[in-house]
Parts: sequence; structure tokens; C-alpha cells
Amino acid sequence: MSAKIIDGKSLSLKIKEELKREVQDLKNKGINPTLAVVLVGDNKASQKYVSFKEKACKELDIQSLVFRFPEDTEEISLIKVIDELNENSQVNGILIQLPLPKHLDQNRVLERINPLKDVDGFTPFCLGRLLTDNPLYIPCTPKGVIRMLDEYGINLEGKQAVVIGRSIIVGKPLSLLLLKRNATVTICHSKSVNLPDITKKADILCIAIGKENFINSNMIKEGAVIIDIGINVTNSGKVVGDVNFEEVRKKASYITPVPGGVGPMTIAMLMENTLYAAKLQHKVLK
Ligand code: GUN
Repeated sequence: MSAKIIDGKSLSLKIKEELKREVQDLKNKGINPTLAVVLVGDNKASQKYVSFKEKACKELDIQSLVFRFPEDTEEISLIKVIDELNENSQVNGILIQLPLPKHLDQNRVLERINPLKDVDGFTPFCLGRLLTDNPLYIPCTPKGVIRMLDEYGINLEGKQAVVIGRSIIVGKPLSLLLLKRNATVTICHSKSVNLPDITKKADILCIAIGKENFINSNMIKEGAVIIDIGINVTNSGKVVGDVNFEEVRKKASYITPVPGGVGPMTIAMLMENTLYAAKLQHKVLK
């Protein structure tokens, strides 16, 4: 078997084209969708992700405001900025790029965001809404994964779904979304034992741990759907996921590539959430 490639890049382009039209519709109504991105410190990967977000905003004609702060920024200063963005009616979405430097309390910082502007869906309010099957904003990466599975007609009901990783960015919200689609969900993490025994039972295997070549063909079931959410840079500077792609693609039924899989979908979902925020705040939702 040779797996079908789940092409996140082309799906994201299609979604962004539709969103671009919606942005123009909003602009015609005098609404100027705006995303504020806060970046603290000089984490290279975060800088790159923020530049991708800025670029997507530009493509769609969404206004992006990027606030960069030094590594040693005090929590009180950051909270003050979030309060100002919460108050600013021109700003529809607020995103704090993670991870934050160690001295900052991530929970306290994220909690400060007005949930109505929480386009990442990481506030306790938005995560609580997701948990109670009444989502407001769904975190972008998990939302993108489900959109890809839907686009390729991959049914989740009754399937064994295994998620490796338990972050609030990916693992936990993705597990809830898979559960909502009636999959039987197993969450694995760094302390899980006998991982291959678990992964070999997966009809859908989602990996978000950030370790190159972590999943090989001996760890998967024949015909499994493989969703690779890892982003790693090899010694030679190549971007790869958590899956040994060339080996695993021969045994899987579907697989997402890295790059060109989940990454572009995350950005497209952020754009979608930002437009939703603009519509919600201007009461133009259908
Ligand atoms: N760091 C890695 N992924 C993400 C994401 O989706 N949103 C934010 N804010 N930070 C991240």
C-alpha cells in the first residue's frame, strides 16, 4: 500500500481564498478585521511562526499588529499590554505566541485575554466551552487536523484514535474533538509505557511531540491514517515531522507530509478564527 498524501498546503490555499472574499465583504461593511500578535523573547521557531501569521494576514488583507517584547519582560508589563488590547475595539483577535519565557506564568497571562478575542482558544473559558461541547474558538492546530480529515472523507466514528502529546495547544483539544466525532481516544505522553503496543492499535494516529523519526513503520497498523503534527529541523537544516515519512507512507492509508501538511492548516484556521472574531464583535454572524 502507498498512502494518499493529505495535502494541507492546497487545502489551506482553498480556505484562504474563501476567507479573502469574506474579508472584502466585511470591509465593504466598514469592518477591518485585525489580529494582534504578542511575541516575547527571541525563540527562533516562534519568530518564524509569527512571520507566517503576519504573511497570511497580509495575503487576506487582515490587519496584523505584532508586539515584540524582550526576553526579560516583566509579567506586569505584559498584562498591561493585554488589558489595552482587550479594551481596544479595533482589535478583534489577540494571540500570545507560546512558549513564553520561563519566568512568566503562562496560565496567568493567557487568562487575561478577553475570551471573545481569544482566537487561539487557549483561555480557560474557551477550553471549558470546548470541553462542554459548546466551542467558541477552537485551537487552530486541532481544528485544522479535523478539517483535513473531513476534507478527505475519513470517518472517525467508532475508530481507535491515538494522540501522542498532551499540550493545550494540540494534544488535549485534539483528543476532545476526536471524542466529539465518536472516536475511541487514547492519549499518550512522555511517561506512557509500551507505546508501540498502543500505536499499533490506532486507526488514526496523531503525533505532536517534536522528535524527528519518532514513529516508524513497526509502530503503526497497516492502513492507518497518520497525522504528523511535529515540526523539527534536522542537522542539515531540513524541516521534518515526527514520523519517518518514507517508511511509514508504504504502510499507511493516508499521511500528512511535513512541511505542507498540518502547518499551513494551522495558519488558515487562525485566519478563520480571526474573521469569526470580527464578525462576532460586529454582530454580523449569520
Ligand atoms: N506555539 C506553537 N503553536 C502555537 C499556536 O498555535 N499558537 C500559539 N499562540 N503559540 C504556539
